[in-house]
Amino acid sequence: MAILLPGGAGYIGSHTAVELLNAGKEIAIVDNFSNSKPEVLDKIKQITGKDFKFYELDYLDRQALEKVFEENQIEAVINFAGFKAVGESVQKPIEYYMNNITGALTILDVMRKYNCKKFIFSSSATVYGEPERIPLTEECRTGGTTNPYGTTKLFIEQILKDTYHSDNQWDICILRYFNPVGSHESGLIGEEPQGIPNNLMPYIVRVANGQLKELSVFGNDYDTPDGTGVRDYIHVVDLAKGHLKALEKIEKEGKGLYIYNLGTGRGYSVLDMVKAFEKATGQKVPYKIVGRRAGDIATCYAETKKAKEELNWGAEKNLEDMCRDSWNYIMKK
Ligand code: UFG
Repeated sequence: MAILLPGGAGYIGSHTAVELLNAGKEIAIVDNFSNSKPEVLDKIKQITGKDFKFYELDYLDRQALEKVFEENQIEAVINFAGFKAVGESVQKPIEYYMNNITGALTILDVMRKYNCKKFIFSSSATVYGEPERIPLTEECRTGGTTNPYGTTKLFIEQILKDTYHSDNQWDICILRYFNPVGSHESGLIGEEPQGIPNNLMPYIVRVANGQLKELSVFGNDYDTPDGTGVRDYIHVVDLAKGHLKALEKIEKEGKGLYIYNLGTGRGYSVLDMVKAFEKATGQKVPYKIVGRRAGDIATCYAETKKAKEELNWGAEKNLEDMCRDSWNYIMKK
């Protein structure tokens, strides 16, 4: 019995693959390398000393996906595949809706055909839109997403809720990630955005190593302690472990639709991140304050109680670990 990971060569998928293999699970990875590299597969093997099956295919290719189900006994699917660049999604909405939504539907349809009904989905805190309250609980209102990427997450959540309601033999777990950063402590796998990064930590790292001149801080007039945006940064290894706990829950208890925030419950500002990074690495991060970025909110962090109580999961790594490991990865490359 194997766990199938579409998008398993990507940033969060590869870290989760490591945790699953370390926990003795059998996995199969499906990826088309649209935003990842084949070398990652060897790195996963190097870290864990374990082997796994890999299929290079596009998850929209139904026939190819069916072949994976023919050749393996797939017990559950954790779907990491999908486009994820917020800005790009505004320019290419059709591509985003096509890839993310059709991809999720294709997987679900193939799963149903092979009577595999355990599904874990990578959602995002972005589904909360402008937060109803802080910290965000899983019961907070969703909707009002400000870009097509976020809307794909919202729509897929709805598809999953409707799927469960139509057939409660499904076990579905929706994981709402906050802001994943950092990399595996080995420095062998990590985040590799193509081109100029959009997200804060990859940008900071490239300013620190001289690839980029300075960080633009998007606004210092928010209603936050220092005026810059506050987010819940979570170490990717903690996040990966959350998937293992979610899998254990649906393997053990089964039959349900569950939703969990995966965050630390702590908010840090952009300037907190700059300071923490400088302290953890000894590198300078020059920055300038510029105007707000369209679609950004002031503050976003999680209430983590539900995941603690029901999954027995909580983030263990701190900001220093996140900064050090992000830096370690880029220095080792
Ligand atoms: N920021 C800067 N300068 C930069 C990049 C970011 O000041 O160059 C600021 C942003 O304004 C924000 C904070 O740093 O205040 C974090 O920005 P990120 O782009 O790193 O992350 P976001 O919170 O905007 O978005 C992330 C993911 C989305 C996900 C969302 C969920 O990128 O995929 O979290 O809350 F949907």
